[in-house]
Amino acid sequence: MKNTIIWESPSNIALVKYWGKMGVQLPCNPSLSMSLSASVSRFELTYSPKKPGEKDLTYLFEGKENKAFEEKLSKFIDSVSNDLPCLTKYQLKISSSNTFPHSAGIASSASAMSALALCLCSMQEAIDEMEMPRDFFLQKASRIARLGSGSASRSVFGQYAIWGEMEGQTESSNYFAIPFKGTIHPTFQDLQDTILMIDSSPKKVSSTAGHELMVDHPYADARFQQARLNMVELLDVLEQGDFDKFTHIVENEALSLHGLMMSSNPSYTLLKPNTLIAIERIKNFREKTQIPLCFTLDAGPNIHLLYPKADEFIIQNFIKQELIELLEEGKYIQDGMGNGPKRIK
Ligand code: PMV
Repeated sequence: MKNTIIWESPSNIALVKYWGKMGVQLPCNPSLSMSLSASVSRFELTYSPKKPGEKDLTYLFEGKENKAFEEKLSKFIDSVSNDLPCLTKYQLKISSSNTFPHSAGIASSASAMSALALCLCSMQEAIDEMEMPRDFFLQKASRIARLGSGSASRSVFGQYAIWGEMEGQTESSNYFAIPFKGTIHPTFQDLQDTILMIDSSPKKVSSTAGHELMVDHPYADARFQQARLNMVELLDVLEQGDFDKFTHIVENEALSLHGLMMSSNPSYTLLKPNTLIAIERIKNFREKTQIPLCFTLDAGPNIHLLYPKADEFIIQNFIKQELIELLEEGKYIQDGMGNGPKRIK
């Protein structure tokens, strides 16, 4: 007996950043993200009863063996078998692919671990022959995804998602993300995200190491407080539609994240000279034209340009005229807000 489950799940870009963790992958502050539409991981999971002498897990990435990631997945799957008891009785074949290039400044761990968590939860449902209520299923998938990669907890939901306990959001939790349930202003319902590829080489310092450097960081407490305040304000902005305030908070979050890296002990920088030149040009363009346009950064040098769909044409022209020369091989990826994961099979 063999069964196959396929899920596609998006990456997300944090608007308020999660940076610093405690306990078992729990965040030191709440975070808010927008799920993307085009940048997704597709996971195909085939399971069959375990047979003695056969491997419990085989993994292929885009049709090829990837032993390092196979090992990571194997450890992750072992670590969640208390929550998903079916995993002790079945052997798994997993293959995955991404719609976006590796190291493009798009969080592949968020899309990958959320897609896998959804596959594993669907497998448990199939074996139990019992469908979980939808909200409970997504909450469970988010909790499992979190254990693989913190930011993956947010990718289980479309549009905007909150992860981490916060004031005024009674359902929020450190253990799983929740969808933002407020009314999203039309300006933020079709937000575009153009990802500018400044440099695709592997990061010198991983996010895991970066989170660890927050443990003794001299600014840790002030940072967690700043994020809490930014969360409250940004959720209000999503409802009210004030793009200037949105820009103020989102850019403050992006530069604070990199400021924390620069003031860690040891300190490090992930920004590149062209990141800073691009930021200057974005700000100048915004001042000159008064067109709503905002940038954010992940833990890397690449820039996410955020703007309403209505201004797409003029901003695409700006990118072609002023930014493209700063990009690695002139590359950028067009994305925008998405509606969350899809079960394919
Ligand atoms: O989920 P992790 O452990 O890869 O950490 C993600 C950290 C940031 O991407 C920089 C911020 C965030 O909230 O996604």
